Amino acid sequence: MLAVEAYNVTKVFGNIRALDGLSFSVKTGEFFGLIGPNGAVKTTAMRIISTLLMPTSGTVRVFGCDVMQNAADVR
Ligand SMILES: Nc1ncnc2c1ncn2[C@@H]1O[C@H](COP(=O)(O)OP(=O)(O)OP(=O)(O)O)[C@@H](O)[C@H]1O
Ligand SMILES: [Mg+2]
Repeated sequence: MLAVEAYNVTKVFGNIRALDGLSFSVKTGEFFGLIGPNGAVKTTAMRIISTLLMPTSGTVRVFGCDVMQNAADVR
């Protein structure tokens, strides 16, 4: 079972493409570091994964639940 799956996720703020095709997966029980310099889009990615922000496109699932189609179950 995958804890988190992200496929080709994008997020556009106005005319800025902040996230441009993020894909990764985290296995259940795995430690996963989301690291990068200031402005690398870490918080934006976490907000999308936790259903606080909608992606512009792409797919994110948390334990099989889609963050856009099934936000309540993700939470
Ligand atoms: N609501 C928003 N409106 C416009 N631009 C945004 C918004 N949220 C984030 N951004 C932009 O998206 C980019 C990524 O920001 P984010 O806060 O996700 O980076 P971060 O990796 O968490 O940075 P830090 O290490 O400083 O916490 C930045 O260019 C930021 O200005
Ligand atoms: Mg941040």
